[in-house]
Amino acid sequence: MVNLPGNRGSCWVATADRTGYPQLESSIHAETVVVGGGIVGLTTALRLLEAGRSVILVEALEIGQQVTGRSTAKITTQHALIYRHLVDTCGVPTARNYAAANSAGAELIKDWIREYGIACDLERKDAYTYATSSNGRGEIEAEAEAARQVGLQAEVFDRAPLPFETVGALCFAEQAQFNPSKYLGGLAHTVANRGGRIFEHSRAILIGEASRWRVVTAHGTVHAGNVVVATNMTVKSPVGMANRTQPRCHTAMAFRVDDPLVVDGMFIGIDDPTHSLRTGLDDRGPLLVVLGPKFNTGQDGNVAARFVDLEEWARKNLPVGDVAWRWCNEDYDTADRVPYVGEPDPQKAPGFHVATGFNAWGISNGTAAGAVIADTIQRRFNPWQGLYNPIRSYPKDFHKNGDSQSIVQSTNDIRIGEGGVIQRGDEKIAVCRAADGSLHGVSATCTHKGCTVTWNNADRTWDCPCHGSIFASGGSVIHGPARKPLVPVKL
Ligand SMILES: Cc1cc2nc3c(=O)[nH]c(=O)nc-3n(C[C@H](O)[C@H](O)[C@H](O)COP(=O)(O)OP(=O)(O)OC[C@H]3O[C@@H](n4cnc5c(N)ncnc54)[C@H](O)[C@@H]3O)c2cc1C
Ligand code: FES
Repeated sequence: MVNLPGNRGSCWVATADRTGYPQLESSIHAETVVVGGGIVGLTTALRLLEAGRSVILVEALEIGQQVTGRSTAKITTQHALIYRHLVDTCGVPTARNYAAANSAGAELIKDWIREYGIACDLERKDAYTYATSSNGRGEIEAEAEAARQVGLQAEVFDRAPLPFETVGALCFAEQAQFNPSKYLGGLAHTVANRGGRIFEHSRAILIGEASRWRVVTAHGTVHAGNVVVATNMTVKSPVGMANRTQPRCHTAMAFRVDDPLVVDGMFIGIDDPTHSLRTGLDDRGPLLVVLGPKFNTGQDGNVAARFVDLEEWARKNLPVGDVAWRWCNEDYDTADRVPYVGEPDPQKAPGFHVATGFNAWGISNGTAAGAVIADTIQRRFNPWQGLYNPIRSYPKDFHKNGDSQSIVQSTNDIRIGEGGVIQRGDEKIAVCRAADGSLHGVSATCTHKGCTVTWNNADRTWDCPCHGSIFASGGSVIHGPARKPLVPVKL
């Protein structure tokens, strides 16, 4: 077993209050049912309630603990090198629309925090994309030019205000950062205060059509005219989303630091291996949060090694103390780097809405997505409906399934705290060995579309190398398109 330092889990989730909404236990009706209580689902719900509509939200686990609550939570229109790419591949109007949608998303977050008094450690910060190579410096300058072309303020500096060598930085001033888990807790509270009904521990196991839409959980059903699948990766959609996207993971570590301004700003590097930095806070004091480069979910057999590399890089380059927290987080990339949001098939599936593919920039994009969906439900024009069109064409070779990285010959190859996949007849079994040496088996066949899972030796989860479903070591669903757990297997 690899012993990594720090507590397993996100520092944001650890410092946010638990929510405690009830489980759905009856059959109820609303105008709209939102599936998923992340930033997209709660934003959609609140926008609809502000317009006087009725909403029910069902959350599989607890509010604020999934992708949003495990993100870096930079509230910014600076998405590394995005505007040059969009201008060159989609044209200036699309790039301008992307900038406008994200500016509006970022502003809405700040407005709501003020208006609804949400305590979530919001801080104004400048955002920097930095380069450490001469090629990178050129890219920074090209990005600055594209950003200005689409109406954003961008400044280039010879170096980033960081304690290690850089050769250029693009600065977007006056952006912001916050604790995303506290923000979602505050949004949920506001939703409930405005008459929205929230149910936790209520996973949608079936979404189907009756006379209206029907969302079925283990103990109840919601009937509604509109359904919003805001589950990060859709768990159901009239137009498949999993093959239009690629699930990507990052490793994150929060280090104790003496100086709360150890770095002043939010930073993202563009040269390999990329790193992302921001400050934060937990109950014991200031933190520096450091992220490593992305990798395809379930396609790396040694995620723990990535944490070892990340810690080594941080200690070499930054004045950090002990590791306080560490976690993995996953989001879905799209080929053109624009999310898919909207009503994919208004003719055959009217009232069915999806939002996915946030390319690890879903705080502002996800907020804009909520506004788009709420407007679409009210049959109102929204200027970003076209930008996020969920059925636009995509390159068929973008999505790449992978194989399990955890195949072993026998359970003898599985050490304490580790997991491996064994074959028994036709059956593949995902086995992990507990601290007392006992073995625990679940089916290794992902309940989404049948790929074989990989052991994540850092988070101790079973991760699917195809569409990014993540299961706890005991088989329950944590994240991704799967709705059913991995079935327990007797060894
Ligand atoms: C490492 C990393 C860092 C990031 N940093 C940033 C950043 O700095 N700035 C930025 O803009 N973006 C960032 N992002 C991206 C951003 O965090 C995400 O795009 C965004 O939070 C996604 O929100 P969501 O609502 O789609 O997902 P989630 O927050 O995951 O919400 C979805 C919810 O749906 C629930 N759910 C799932 N299945 C079901 C079901 N069957 N029934 C009911 N509920 C269900 C889940 O439990 C979850 O609570 C980052 C992403 C990563 C991976
Ligand atoms: S997530 Fe699709 S097969 Fe596992």
